[in-house]
Amino acid sequence: MVYINFISLKQGKTQLIEVIFSQAVRAAVTSWRSTVTFDYMLKSLACPRELGCELLPLIERELDNRNYSCAEVTAFAWNNPLVKLEAVFEPPELPETPTDFRPVPDAEGTVLAQITAIACLTTINSKAVSYRSENEGDLFVNLVVFPPDGGVFAEKSAGKMSGHTDGVSFPLRGLSDPENDRIAPSPDFVCLSALRNPNQVPTMVMPLEKLMERLSKEHIDELQKPQFIIGSQLTFREGMKRILGDELMVDDAQLLFAMNGSWWIRFSHSSTLIADTDKKSAQEAMDALKNACADCAIPVPLAPGDIALVNNRIALHGRSEVGDEYGGQTRWLLRTYGLDISNIDPNQWHEGSNFMLYP
Ligand SMILES: [Fe+2]
Repeated sequence: MVYINFISLKQGKTQLIEVIFSQAVRAAVTSWRSTVTFDYMLKSLACPRELGCELLPLIERELDNRNYSCAEVTAFAWNNPLVKLEAVFEPPELPETPTDFRPVPDAEGTVLAQITAIACLTTINSKAVSYRSENEGDLFVNLVVFPPDGGVFAEKSAGKMSGHTDGVSFPLRGLSDPENDRIAPSPDFVCLSALRNPNQVPTMVMPLEKLMERLSKEHIDELQKPQFIIGSQLTFREGMKRILGDELMVDDAQLLFAMNGSWWIRFSHSSTLIADTDKKSAQEAMDALKNACADCAIPVPLAPGDIALVNNRIALHGRSEVGDEYGGQTRWLLRTYGLDISNIDPNQWHEGSNFMLYP
């Protein structure tokens, strides 16, 4: 009985901080919006860091009004697999759902969703970033269903997506690529802004803490050995060929990392292989990880106006099947990434940009 009370108490606190975070950002962005033109808003998206600096004092004031601080919200986000901010922006009036990753159409609703995402990341001391090799480096992309003739992404965009971390072939923050130290780290956060989700198709989140409970000591040891091959996710491949000459593959990758007293993970069901296929213990550990993902996936249906910050170090994410319908009023999320850039080397930025990373 005491145990149940403890759980509900913990859930209650989690919900409270998410509610406060959401209310504060919404209030701050709404008041900011009332002082600027649409054109100014649009232009500010080209300079996300400056925009963050403009918004932060407003958010701090709104948090303070609610007896919270950025530090509390930040600590919460960095230590939880998911922050779900319900109704953090007004469910927008929108054009029809696009049928490609880019461009994000310019409309009040899409711009507000992007500004709010930058505001959320700024609050938790994370900067909105992109990679030049993915979707031409656009800071925000549409996550939508592609038409059947939409090339290699058409089938993938409609189907289920198994658990993965984003930018899986990039090193974790604080580590380097073994062959090219220009390669920037993978993101700390995957930030999803929901514009439409008529069938409540859930984003799936798999907390690493839950996965670890399902792995044996042997599995954990195996997953820390450099005995896996990690390829790049499909969305990066063409861009990498242009920038690096080839897709980035990591030959001696470990999947699980002991980092400053906690575990971090990099993994993708579709992009990870065992280096030595005869090595049974490695295969068993990876199978155990995949099974744990299937057991631990938490469905997170996002409604228009919600933003999810998925912690890309301590959670995997995926998606349920979306279905074939595209365009019109179908599902539409915007995605950007968040990263602590304090130790990013100048040459890990794409030339001339302060949000686009290499490659
Ligand atoms: Fe992803």
